[in-house]
Amino acid sequence: MYKILIRPFLFLLPPETSHHLVLKALKILNAIPGIRGLLRSLFFVPDLRKKETQLMGLKFKHPLGLAAGFDKSGAYVDELALLGFSFLEIGAVTPKPQKGNSKPRLFRLKKDKALINRMGFNNPGMKTVAQNLKKRKSDVIVGVNIGKNTHTPNEKAKDDYLQVFTYLHPYADFFTVNVSCPNIGEIQSLSEKRNLLPLLKEMQEINRKSGKPKPILLKLSPDLSKKQLNESIESALEAQIDGLIVVNTTKDFSLLKSNYETLRKIGNGGLSGLPLKEKAKEITGYVSKQVKGKLVIIGVGGIMSPGDAKERMDAGADLIQIFTGLIYEGPGLIKKIIKAL
Ligand SMILES: Cc1cc2nc3c(=O)[nH]c(=O)nc-3n(C[C@H](O)[C@H](O)[C@H](O)COP(=O)(O)O)c2cc1C
Repeated sequence: MYKILIRPFLFLLPPETSHHLVLKALKILNAIPGIRGLLRSLFFVPDLRKKETQLMGLKFKHPLGLAAGFDKSGAYVDELALLGFSFLEIGAVTPKPQKGNSKPRLFRLKKDKALINRMGFNNPGMKTVAQNLKKRKSDVIVGVNIGKNTHTPNEKAKDDYLQVFTYLHPYADFFTVNVSCPNIGEIQSLSEKRNLLPLLKEMQEINRKSGKPKPILLKLSPDLSKKQLNESIESALEAQIDGLIVVNTTKDFSLLKSNYETLRKIGNGGLSGLPLKEKAKEITGYVSKQVKGKLVIIGVGGIMSPGDAKERMDAGADLIQIFTGLIYEGPGLIKKIIKAL
């Protein structure tokens, strides 16, 4: 039904408009008790006992979650939980609200089953996100993806990450340090050990003092050099954080089928979806060998089918996330993946 009826309609609209429409529709449907039950029966896999996994002190009903960027504000946690995910990552969240880059900033590449985005951390800021998270009813695991405000210089970026972490600490189940977004100035230089290690160590310090430490993960860019990748892994191990999310969107457009003119019109951004699959899988394999089970690995990037999901787990991921697959394949993909794993 999604591919025949819903997707053709949604794909007539600008991508960001469709995205908001879907979220609003889910909100309305969730408010109707009969429909909520129907959605649950449509999307929930009944017997999950064998798929349960305990990681980072959290009990995941199954290994599939929603990647960061889909719900930037945490206002749709209950609605997205209805689709059957075992965990949701919301954000990126910054200390102050910000509008992000000017529109259009999200593009479909249908031939490639891909998206290009340069959203630029549009989000309502940590205070509104806290209010939203306080209202959630669902017991789905929620992670907060942390970013810095665009105008905060890199030298002061640490303060932004620590502020969001401290402020939202009581309201989330885990946190992701996002220094890998390709759309925010020179943010990726924060992946270097001299910047990253002090940040992760201070977060752990705050975590310990809180009395109820929450898992911290680091999200990696697929565009890091081997040296930067190794430094990121070393920093994560040295700071004794809990895991790595592998990977964010890529700036590498070399594998695309879409023609040069289409890409020229779109301009800069981060690429997600099918063209990212092989690179993401390869990095997952590499990272998994390096960390030897000492860190939890969440695999993300180009997972568009149950087969892709299995391959990513085989490459060393403990959990996986999807984003672009949901846009192209629809919510039915969630159940198919869970059943296959
Ligand atoms: C529109 C859009 C917004 C995103 N925003 C974020 C974000 O705020 N923080 C983040 O860590 N990743 C963000 N991502 C990256 C995704 O979480 C994911 O890592 C990436 O899309 C690769 O997975 P996919 O191929 O399944 O989409 C965004 C992706 C898209 C398409």
